[in-house]
Amino acid sequence: MNTIIDFIHTNRDRYIDELKAYLAIPSISALPEHAADVRRCAEWTAEEMRRVGLDHVQLYETPGNPIVCGEWLKAEGAPTILFYGHYDVQPVDPIELWESPPFEAMVRSGEIYARGAADDKGQVFMHLKAIEAHLRQTSRLPVNMKIILEGEEEVGSESLDAFIRDRRDELSADVVVISDSPMFDRGVPSICYGLRGLTYFQIDLRGTASDLHSGSFGGAVANPAFVLSQVLAQMKDRGGRVKVPGFYDAVRPLRDEERAEFKKLPFNEKHYRTELGAPKLFGERDYTTLERVWARPTFEVNGLQSGFTGDGAKTVIPATATAKVSMRLVPDQEPDTIAKQFEDYLRKVTPKTVALTITRMHGGRPWMTEFDNPYVQAAARAVERGFGQQPVFNREGGSIPVVATFQEVLDLPSVLFGIGLPDENAHAPNERLDLGNFHNGIIASAYLYDEIGRLTGHAATAESGGG
Ligand code: BES
Ligand code: ZN
Repeated sequence: MNTIIDFIHTNRDRYIDELKAYLAIPSISALPEHAADVRRCAEWTAEEMRRVGLDHVQLYETPGNPIVCGEWLKAEGAPTILFYGHYDVQPVDPIELWESPPFEAMVRSGEIYARGAADDKGQVFMHLKAIEAHLRQTSRLPVNMKIILEGEEEVGSESLDAFIRDRRDELSADVVVISDSPMFDRGVPSICYGLRGLTYFQIDLRGTASDLHSGSFGGAVANPAFVLSQVLAQMKDRGGRVKVPGFYDAVRPLRDEERAEFKKLPFNEKHYRTELGAPKLFGERDYTTLERVWARPTFEVNGLQSGFTGDGAKTVIPATATAKVSMRLVPDQEPDTIAKQFEDYLRKVTPKTVALTITRMHGGRPWMTEFDNPYVQAAARAVERGFGQQPVFNREGGSIPVVATFQEVLDLPSVLFGIGLPDENAHAPNERLDLGNFHNGIIASAYLYDEIGRLTGHAATAESGGG
C-alpha cells in the first residue's frame, strides 16, 4: 500500500485542479434547461473513468438522464464492490447568497466551494482517484469493481430502479459502497448504518377562477392561502407529532441500546443550535435531537406559494395556493402506505370551499443495516487507516432511495462511508468540501479496497507489503 499512498500524496494538487473541472459542469437535474449540461457531465464522468483505467465504460440511456457504468473485474476470486454515486447536483438558487459563482470552484481556507463539491461529485471523484492510484502504481485492484453513477439522484432516481431490476445479473456483487453522506462531525469520521426514507407531495388549492379584489369579494369566498395554512396546521400537534392517522403504526421503536449509543456521540446541542442560527430547537416531544433526526419520521413543509409576494402591498384574494410537503420515513414505514394515509387525511381536513389537487412526487424507502457485517468492519478499519482515527457509527436523516433497492433487488449490504461535513451546505448556497477530508478520503478509499480484498486474502500488491 505504501507506493499507493505516496502516489496520492504526490498528486494532491492535481486532484484539486481536476475536481475543479468536474465541478464546473452545471449538472442540475431538476432544471430542464440544464439537460445538455447533465449529459456533458455524464460524458465527462465516463471519460474520467476511462482515464483512471476502468474497463467497458459506457453511458446507458434512460427515459431520464444517462447512467454511467464501468468496471474492473480482473481480481479473480476477490470480492466485488458495486460502487454507486451521482453526478447530478441541486439547483443553486438563491444565487445572490453565493460568495463565489457556484460553478467556478474556488479554494478558500482549505475548502473547495462549488455546487456538488460535497453532494456528490467530490465524493465520487475521491473514489475515482483512489482507483487511479491503485491502477497506476500496481496495475491492479485488490477487489473487483462495478461502478454505477446516476444523474437523477437529486430528483428521485426515477430511472434507476428499472435499470437495476433489468440488470440484476450484471450488477451482482458482494457489497455496495456509497460516499454520499456527511461524517458525524469535523474530526469525527463515521460509518452510516441507517437512512430515512421519503414521500413527497404537491398540494394545490383553488378558490376561484381568478385572483379577486379583496375589498369587493373579501368575506364572500374562502381564501386558499388561509385554507392552506389551516390544513397544514392540522398535520402536526404542538408537541411535534404528526397527526396523519396510522402514521406511526410501522415505526420501529428505538432500542434502548441504540439510544444509549446515540448519547455517547460527541454532540453538543447548544453548538448545533447556534450553528443553525435557530432561536430554539423544536422537535417531537420525548426524543433527543439526534433521535428526532435519525430515528423518527417527520412532516415538513418544503415550500409555499400564493398571492402577492412582491414589495409593497396589493389587496388581493389569491385564486390558488400551493404547498410542497414531504415526510421523512424510518424503518419499517412504507412510502406507499404513508402516502395513502396522508392523502386520505388531507382530503378529510380540506374544506369543500376550495378544489384540492394532490400530486405525489418522488420518494424512497428507509434503510438500516447491521453494522457487525464484515464489510462494515472492513470500512471502519479503512477509515481508521485513512483518517488516523476510529469512526463512530451513526444514522442519518437524509435519503438515498437506491440503497433500499440494492438490498431488496440484489440482496446486497451497503457501506456508507461519507466524508462530507454536516455544515458543508449541501443543497444550500456556498456548498463546499473540506480538502483535508477529501485527501484523507482518497487514502481511506484506497485502503477500503485493500481491506475488502483482504477478506478473501487479496491484499493490495504483495510486493509493497501491507502498509
Ligand atoms: N447526499 C444526499 C443524501 C444524504 C443527505 C444522506 C444527508 C445523508 C445525509 C442526497 O444527495 C440527497 O439529497 N438525497 C435526497 C433524496 C430525495 C431526492 C429522494 C434527500 O435526502 O432529500
Ligand atoms: Zn443531495
